[in-house]
Formats: sequence, structure tokens, C-alpha cells
Amino acid sequence: MLKGKHIVLGISGGIAAYKSVFLLRLLVKAGAEVQVVITPNGKEFITPVTLSSLSGKPAISEFFTANTGEWHSHVDLGLWADLMIIAPATASTIAKMANGVADNMLVTSYLSTKAHVMVAPAMDLDMWAHPSTRRNIATLVADGVEIISPAAGELASHLVGKGRMEEPQNILKAIESYFDTLHPAVPPALNGKKVIVTAGPTHEKIDPVRFIGNYSSGKMGFEIARECARRGADVTLVCGPVALPTPNPDIERFDVTSALEMYETTRSFVQSADIAIFAAAVADYRPEVCRESKIKREKQQEPVIKLVKNPDIAAECGRGKRKNQFFVGFALETDNELENAQEKLVKKNLDMIVLNSLRDQGAGFQCDTNKITIVTADDTVSFPLKSKTDVASDVVDRIILELNKGK
Ligand code: C5P
Repeated sequence: MLKGKHIVLGISGGIAAYKSVFLLRLLVKAGAEVQVVITPNGKEFITPVTLSSLSGKPAISEFFTANTGEWHSHVDLGLWADLMIIAPATASTIAKMANGVADNMLVTSYLSTKAHVMVAPAMDLDMWAHPSTRRNIATLVADGVEIISPAAGELASHLVGKGRMEEPQNILKAIESYFDTLHPAVPPALNGKKVIVTAGPTHEKIDPVRFIGNYSSGKMGFEIARECARRGADVTLVCGPVALPTPNPDIERFDVTSALEMYETTRSFVQSADIAIFAAAVADYRPEVCRESKIKREKQQEPVIKLVKNPDIAAECGRGKRKNQFFVGFALETDNELENAQEKLVKKNLDMIVLNSLRDQGAGFQCDTNKITIVTADDTVSFPLKSKTDVASDVVDRIILELNKGK
């Protein structure tokens, strides 16, 4: 099974592109989330619409979507991927990959991915046997790329028809066995620990149809909850309005809307928790009153909404923190980042602050990546830009380290 695996399927312009449709179907059926990236030539062989309807995501071809101007980030895509498979890979695409010729979205994504890359070549025998193709394939192998081909490991010149693309079924098998040989099992260092995580934004009602909110997607908090569960913790996730599935069936999830609701729910669980991670972007203020009926345009003069302060959930919980509890806060800063984070650590009685700056590209709201600095009372460690999944793993690693220090 490939459930939840993020796979980038790169398609270049060969007649075997039609087989990629079957491969895409197999991957989706096996539970993978697939993002198709197709070269301009690939589109001569297969339409992006066919691919999009099978994968459920628009197939990416250009750096920009022509009609919306939306920019496709090859870096985000590269980080999102758990695996990249290029099938079919033409002689030209292989040559570009081997030499770093990043003139299309497919090769650009290849150059920026940290994921394992597989290539299923497809070309006629002369091209396959040509010394330049041999050299380029050898370069890819040296670069750690896995070649999936009926002729892999054999001398092409002995084999007629061996430039043909591997059958989709066999490519699927190769992908599955790659994931099988990974070692996802991590030591269950949080076995028996109770963890509470807050995540997402809060919505503060103005009237029955309007609210004050923020852009938080909840992704970071959800990844942290998932990571804690993966390490054996008993996780409670209290989240504001988000469009995310519960990351692990063992997680107990409570959906709330406002800061006050989040506060009440969090408070009732935090006392019995060993670890609390406050990743929610809680609205600092709420309208003093929620109007009973919709504010009308015509009747009113320009309405004034009086705001009152919401409780600071992290700080309130921090006040009651016991000695053996470990509390983590987040801080999204725009300036004086470190100073502010250190101040928050003390003011909210937290043990760790995960700091991200809105000044860093790819960090913060909505995106799948983040760049953090972990601040504790006696230490500050900065990390490079990573996927939120990997950031969550760094945060949890650090929590475990700190817990062990205290032993
Ligand atoms: O003070 P600031 O909003 O920057 O602090 C951010 C940290 O405090 C985050 O961990 C956030 O989840 C938490 N917080 C909270 N309740 C609030 C405001 C912030 O729990 N009302």
C-alpha cells in the first residue's frame, strides 16, 4: 500500500506516455497522492486533462498557469514528494537530468527534490544503445537515481527492444518495494506520554455570517500531532476550523471554532498532559458581542466593532504548569525575532519556543514548508527550510532530547 505517500509522476514526450495513465491509475488505487508534472513535449502524447481527472490534481507543465498566473514552486513540489518517478523518461529528459538542464518544470523539480528518484526510460534501441545515452544513464545512477527498465543492469547492445518502458505493474512493484525497504519504524520514545496539541486558526463571530479569522492552515500542528502519535504518544488534538483530515486514527480530535472554545477544551485536557504544544494561531481579540442578526448595509451607519481580549491559552496553561510537564509554544515574528521569542518563553512559562519568521520565504502560513529556530532557556538552534513533516520530526526530536535531559 502507498497510502498517504506523496508521489511526483514526471511524464516526458514519448509514445509510452499512454502507459503512464495506467501507472497513474495504479498509484492512485494503491492510495498514493500523485502530482503529475508533464513536459511540453509530453503534452503532445497525452492530455493534461486525462491526467488531472485521474490524479485529482491539475497536471503541472509550466512554471506559471497561463490563465491565473499562479506560480508553481518546484522547490515546494520537490519537498512535498516522498518519491519522484519519471515515466516515460526520453533520451532528451535523461540527458537534461544528467546535466542539470533545468528548462522545464520536470527537470527543475528533479533538481530540487530531496526524495528518492526513479526513472523508467523509453526510447528506441539505437537511442538507448547510443554512447551518450549510456553515459547519461551512468551519470544518473552515480547520482543515486534508480533506473527501472527491462534492460536495467544488462548490456543494451545485446538486447533488441530493450529501450521500451517497463510495464506499469512492474514500476508499481519497484515503488512499493522502495517504501517497504525504508525504515519508518522509529523508537516509540513517547510511549505512555499524553500530548495535547492546539492547531489551526480561530474564528471570532461578528454576526451569524461573518467572523474575524486568520490564514493559518493548521498543517504544522497536524504534522506535529502525527509525529507525536508516530512516536507512541497518546495525542489529543484541539483544532480550530481547518480543512484537514485527522492525521492518524489513534489521535483524539476536538474541533472548535473560537478562542474561548479552544481555551475551554484545552484547559480540560492540559492538566493530565505530559506535553502541551500550542501550535494554534489564536485570535488575540474577539468582538465584544456577536450580533444576533446579520449586520445590514442599508440601515446602519458605518458599524464599529468593539474588540475585547481573548485569553492567551498558552500563557494561561503555562501558569498552572507542573514541574514534570513540558510546554511548547510557537512564535511567528516579523522583527526582533529572537528577543521576542525569548521573552515569550519566560512570560508564558514555556519550555520551548518554535520560532518562524514571516521574513523567510516558504515559512509560515498555508505552505507545506517551514523554516524554524528552536529556542529554549539555554539554547537556540536554527534549521534550514524543510517540509512541515520534517520540521515536525525535528521539533519532536528536540522535545524528547529535552525530556531526557531532565531525567
Ligand atoms: O503571543 P503570541 O501570539 O505571539 O504567542 C504565540 C504562541 O502563543 C503560540 O504558541 C500560540 O499558540 C499561543 N497563543 C495562545 N493563545 C492566544 C495567543 C497565542 O495559545 N490567545
